[in-house]
Amino acid sequence: MTVTEPLTDDALLTELEPVVEAELNRHLAQAKEWMPHQYVPWTEGRNYEGPLGGEAWSPSQSRVSPAVATALAVNLLTEDNLPSYHFEIAVLFGRDRAWGEWVHRWTAEEGRHGQAIRDYLLVTRACDPIALERERMVHMSDGFRNDNPGDAIASIAYVSFQELATRVSHRNVGKATGDPIGENLFARIAADENLHMVFYRRLLEASLELAPDRTMRAITEVVRTFQMPGYDLPGFGRKALQIAMAGIYDLRQHRDNVVLPVLRFWNVWEREFGAEGEKARMELDAVLTDVDIAASRFTERRDARMARAGG
Ligand SMILES: [Fe+2]
Ligand SMILES: [Fe+2]
Repeated sequence: MTVTEPLTDDALLTELEPVVEAELNRHLAQAKEWMPHQYVPWTEGRNYEGPLGGEAWSPSQSRVSPAVATALAVNLLTEDNLPSYHFEIAVLFGRDRAWGEWVHRWTAEEGRHGQAIRDYLLVTRACDPIALERERMVHMSDGFRNDNPGDAIASIAYVSFQELATRVSHRNVGKATGDPIGENLFARIAADENLHMVFYRRLLEASLELAPDRTMRAITEVVRTFQMPGYDLPGFGRKALQIAMAGIYDLRQHRDNVVLPVLRFWNVWEREFGAEGEKARMELDAVLTDVDIAASRFTERRDARMARAGG
């Protein structure tokens, strides 16, 4: 279908509703039920200090490096802020019909992630549980705000990248635990994130058909300004650097394994646009070149530092 009039957000969401319904049904058919309690090595657990008089946490109990512990905590805290994400998505998409069904289903699946990760971290004593709880309180008390309030297309573009970024990050932190049980849990969560990405990526593809120029502009702005959902965590800059230095999530992975595959799926380089869309696409190309340069610079610095540490 070709639309000549610019669509309002409401009209666009209405146009997208059949796609939401089809993709929701596909999601429900593909998503496999899994039980978070089966992924947690409960026999490793023991009581903590406090009312039960157990043993307090100390850094020597953690089997992961400080960088991996940081990544695990950040990934959990990011999942913890789910009430705010639910609010933002429900405000944007509404709670009716297929949109509403998706929002609730997505929230239920995401809820499992935070619960399973917390159980795993507490049982294995990988992270400081008191620091984690205090950070959760700060993080959730701050809440999360959509960077593109009221802009459905930009928001869908953002979550397409964000779900894939989360998938990559969970997958890599799982491997970095060096624990087959941890790796298995995070791989399971990553598989959920992948299906979420597939849902949003398909919606944005439909939006490219309905409103090509506006959608292309939204993609460019989202790639230009992308931040991980935990970016407002206290000390996030330092933590993100630690995580990147550990190779769990860095700019090279972000560009090559998250942004580029999604852009390729949308076929942005071959699509026909009007003048506005064309301009946005050229800007996107320039943004990606800048990111490429910055990513290479970072990787070189990291390699040099590792070589110095190794020698
Ligand atoms: Fe999640
Ligand atoms: Fe997700």
